[in-house]
Amino acid sequence: MSDTPQSETAVTITVNGQPVVAEKGELVIAAAERAGVYIPHFCYHPRMKPVGMCRMCIVDIDSGRGPALQPSCMIEVAPDMVVNTESDATKKAQDGVLEFLLLNHPLDCPVCDKGGECPLQDQTIAYGPGESRFVEEKRHHAKPIPISENVYLDRERCILCDRCTRFAKEVAGDPLIHFTERGSNTEIATFPDDPFSSYFSGNTVQICPVGALTARPYRFKARPWDLVETESTCTSCSVGCRVSVHTSRDRVLRYQGVDVDPVNWGWLCDKGRFDFEAVHSDDRLGAPLVRGADGELAEVSWHEALTAAAGHLRSALDGAGAGSVAVIGGARLTNESAYAWAKLAKGVIGTDHVDAQLGDGLPAEVVLGLPRATIDDACTAGGTVLLLGTDAKEELPVLHLRLRHAVVSDGVKIIEVSPQATGITSHTFASIRHQPGDTAAVVAALLGGGAAPAGVDADALSRAREALGAGPLTVVVGRPSVAESAAGAVEAAAAVLAAHPDARFLSALRRANVHGALDLGLAPGILPGRVTLDEGRDWFTAHWGSVPAATGLDTAGILAAAAEGRIETLVLLGADPLADFPDADLARRGLEGAANVIAVDLFRTASSDAADVVLAAAGYAEVDGTTTNLEGRVSRVSQRVNPPGTARADWMIAAELAFRLGGDLGVESVEDVWDEIEQVSPAHAGLTLELLASDEATAGFVVPVPVEVEPAEVAEPAEDGDSSAEADAAPEAEAEASAESEADDAASDDADGESDDEAALAVEATPAPERPALLTFVAPAPAAAPAATDSYSLRLTVGRKLYDQGTLVAHSPSLANLAPAAVVHLSPKDHDRVGVGVAGVTEVRIRSAKGDVVVPAVADKALAAGTAALAFHQPGASAAALIDAGAAVTEVRIESVEGGAS
Ligand code: SF4
Ligand code: FES
Repeated sequence: MSDTPQSETAVTITVNGQPVVAEKGELVIAAAERAGVYIPHFCYHPRMKPVGMCRMCIVDIDSGRGPALQPSCMIEVAPDMVVNTESDATKKAQDGVLEFLLLNHPLDCPVCDKGGECPLQDQTIAYGPGESRFVEEKRHHAKPIPISENVYLDRERCILCDRCTRFAKEVAGDPLIHFTERGSNTEIATFPDDPFSSYFSGNTVQICPVGALTARPYRFKARPWDLVETESTCTSCSVGCRVSVHTSRDRVLRYQGVDVDPVNWGWLCDKGRFDFEAVHSDDRLGAPLVRGADGELAEVSWHEALTAAAGHLRSALDGAGAGSVAVIGGARLTNESAYAWAKLAKGVIGTDHVDAQLGDGLPAEVVLGLPRATIDDACTAGGTVLLLGTDAKEELPVLHLRLRHAVVSDGVKIIEVSPQATGITSHTFASIRHQPGDTAAVVAALLGGGAAPAGVDADALSRAREALGAGPLTVVVGRPSVAESAAGAVEAAAAVLAAHPDARFLSALRRANVHGALDLGLAPGILPGRVTLDEGRDWFTAHWGSVPAATGLDTAGILAAAAEGRIETLVLLGADPLADFPDADLARRGLEGAANVIAVDLFRTASSDAADVVLAAAGYAEVDGTTTNLEGRVSRVSQRVNPPGTARADWMIAAELAFRLGGDLGVESVEDVWDEIEQVSPAHAGLTLELLASDEATAGFVVPVPVEVEPAEVAEPAEDGDSSAEADAAPEAEAEASAESEADDAASDDADGESDDEAALAVEATPAPERPALLTFVAPAPAAAPAATDSYSLRLTVGRKLYDQGTLVAHSPSLANLAPAAVVHLSPKDHDRVGVGVAGVTEVRIRSAKGDVVVPAVADKALAAGTAALAFHQPGASAAALIDAGAAVTEVRIESVEGGAS
């Protein structure tokens, strides 16, 4: 992993007669491998502590007292050490180790998933004795036994290398598998009645050096030599783990983690690993749909569907103007598609009512403006991480693994400020529990600026203060709960930055490419390249022809406007607000209120079922392009299979719609789109296609990349008016636009008024504008603290689980049944007060101003009194039925339900 050490800690050893410069403390096996000398091994794994279990790595090592056979995975380099991996003694030892490892191995390679990519098979052929002296009957076990929903164990294949058990304990922190029995009866086992239910179980399958652990979703699907392997980036959340996509005969058959140092170290979460099943779900849309005269959605040709969609957009433009068009979604898209849609919406249609987030994130200007950290920054030895709100284990699982490692191995101190316990709580230096809505007040108290809210543990607060300022500070800021507004988290982040100007921030937004979508302008008031609408106006007007005049609405605002009849055409860009927007009532009213809905999606969803036109999009592994993770790291995603039917890439759909609206995105390939991004987006300047195709691209590039940027040329405006479709539509639109909404009016004023010729003249007469500056964080005015609850009410906190009823999980059979049913957590005091457990009562009714749900209740000692915790979008009960998107917090009352739900 490291380059040749240059420092004063360098140590020179000799390996097979050649001098090798190693780093002090480096293991012999690692130094040799870096120098190109492979030492066979099974138990050694560079991302875990060595254990010396298998003895396969034994080589001749002379540390000054003569050569001796020693396990190279357990010995650190020393000055003048002489290593011989090819001596007769080494070869004899390797023969012996392999002969013994195979003593009980069933040699069932022809029916073993690992056959063809098995280190035991390969190393037996390369280093083994050729034949065995053992003729006795081998050990037999029932095979395979499931140790979890998705991992099977064939015990007789196991060589007891301790990789899976070490991974589970050391890396995942889920010590649910262990050795049991002794001697030749030693085997891997789970605890009785306690399966290996780890979010990271698939990694054990990948690192098992034999076929003892296999993944149910892949068993017997292919042989390794049938597979084509293509590197890509996981987009199941925003960590952006590097993966290898394995395909055969136009089907994705599995993902394997790829070890990139700055991000995932080879690990994947099980959602990211096994949701490949959704790619080929029978439910994928393979053709566009249009609602017919009978009221049903029916398959039509692309020409008909695009004409219908463009017709809806055109009638909105010709009617109430650009401000009556809105776009929700975009986090599913590649960067290229996000840019194409931003250009379509803001440059061609002229609306700024665009939001890639679904009311469950943070304001775009906050995410884009806060000074950024990388994952490595957060994990710097001796540093401090302040976690504001997000349970990384549930929402950003491999970030959780990195943070956990940073705590356990590198002394990083984590301060957690959260309404409920999270996956990292047991590793925190201080965990401050508080009521929903109190994040800003708790952080103010932490920074010494005020009294702590009632119920906050003073000891935890003072312990947290010890860690603040002790080393570099990284703040991981997300949305603590979708049942409260983002204002508290934003105010808290602003307070930390004011008190610690060197602090750096990782935004914990979970959706796949939400950071790329925001970077490329799919947010109100934002243009591509992390610039504000105002700052980028001249630059993008020069490049696009026009931009909206004023900041538009976010998703909550769009849905509210639609509910009031102010949105004529609503585009759902891979978004399902009926399932995903926190306020179910507002989502329903918004979709009902929009005159026309166009959905661009992979599947039919609750929301796309309500659409007038559904455009079938190509998804993961079906498109080339790039994605951006939570660090702002841009890395490639690769096409490996064909999309179902005639589904097509989102950027192509945007280009087709632009054309039908009289505009022209000016791109014909995904490379064209990236070229334009590189030319016009200030944050992406210098990140050329060549760089993205280079070897360095495996780890991605954090933007902005540090390069000298030539001033970009301003494109000549196209003769046929590639600027705004409003050039002819908007004047009347403006005249007729409703005076009710300032934002609507402003957005419909935007590109209108000028004819193409006038726009062209304006561009020609004006000197080329400067590339705009990246936006910087501006602290918002503090919001009023939520009103205190009365003694009968509780505040609701609603977080996320890794497995929910979301699209990818729901369409991956191996994951779908892992989504736990909704259950409300109450403090023991509230649990008893409500009367759960008395006279057989197990369920409660939760009521808010918006609605009510009935769910089972459990007591949770980690929860502060006065808080009720429910997860979003789980089977059984919808938290969204309780939430008011406009409220600072969600107050609920809870009563027991005798005899269960009726
Ligand atoms: Fe994919 Fe996120 Fe899991 Fe990584 S942590 S494998 S990016 S879902
Ligand atoms: Fe060294 Fe197993 S690899 S003992």
